[in-house]
Amino acid sequence: EVKNLEAIFDARIERDERIEPKDWMPEKYRQTHIRQISQHAHSEIVGMLPEGNWITRAPSLRRKAALLAKVQDEAGHGLYLYSACETLGITREEMYEQLHSGKAKYSSIFNYPTITWADIGAIGWLVDGAAIINQVALCNTSYGPYARAMVRICKEESFHQRQGYEIMLTLSRGTEEQKAMAQDALNRWWWPSLMMFGPRDEASTHTAQSMKWKLKRKTNDELRQQFIDQTVPQADILGLSVPDPDLKFNPETGHYDFGEIDWKEFWQVVKGHGPCNKERMEARVGAWERGAWVRDAAMAHAEKNKNKTMA
Ligand code: ACO
Repeated sequence: EVKNLEAIFDARIERDERIEPKDWMPEKYRQTHIRQISQHAHSEIVGMLPEGNWITRAPSLRRKAALLAKVQDEAGHGLYLYSACETLGITREEMYEQLHSGKAKYSSIFNYPTITWADIGAIGWLVDGAAIINQVALCNTSYGPYARAMVRICKEESFHQRQGYEIMLTLSRGTEEQKAMAQDALNRWWWPSLMMFGPRDEASTHTAQSMKWKLKRKTNDELRQQFIDQTVPQADILGLSVPDPDLKFNPETGHYDFGEIDWKEFWQVVKGHGPCNKERMEARVGAWERGAWVRDAAMAHAEKNKNKTMA
């Protein structure tokens, strides 16, 4: 019987039909979606921290309002994705537990520090730019709730990317000191942004299966190349240089060739040993613990109201 169900499922994937929460799905399909969607949700939530660091120090009211809105959007994306993930039969408490215990991963990129205001520009431009490229492909992913979440999230990411690029544009057209700040931020964020797309295809555990299930529509390397091709001309407009001596447009392929990513650094950060991993986890776990009384109070209130309606 399962074989039969599996054949029907495969045919639906083949026809590009969306799989919905109550549909039959192979257990591995369910598990791999829980893994990716929950990691994605955790990334949005942890991703609030490096930028939250600058809300009180934004250089103008306008910048502060935009940054505040962006960080709030990220909280919304996280909650949206947690909800999408819950449709697969995992509870939010379980997901939080996986994050807080270090069992679940979140994007490597959020383990780097935000040292100057220009980092906020670079994050919007590069990190959100990379996120959009990854997520536009996911708007077409086979699992319905994930695909629909991505459509809305991409619209907001596009605003985030523009606000970042505008900060970079202002700095790069400013004083020498401001321009140097923008260049320094690009130098520090370029390589970690390329790492966001994950390991090379041949080293990627999940890509082959995820492509078959149409969870992924493009591979890690395809998306990374797309990001580089799109972003290098934007750096040119800023008058900033990308910190890769091997970067060169290849007229034969129509793409930029680029240098080797430091995979040792990537795996170090993924395994918890990046510059800010410890700080990020302490912030999340601390927020969870400090919020315990709010959860308790909300539960007690709900309980009291339930008793009232029963009486
Ligand atoms: N940071 C942390 N871990 C990573 C990263 C990264 N940049 N890239 C890959 N990994 C992990 C994978 O999660 C996987 O670990 P696991 O088996 O323990 O789950 C392992 O490295 C091997 O990688 P892949 O086999 O290539 O994993 P996968 O098929 O899941 O591809 C990718 C990784 C591209 C990140 C995919 O999960 C994805 O598209 N996720 C959705 C987008 C997302 O999470 N974005 C977060 C950053 S953007 C933002 O939040 C604004």
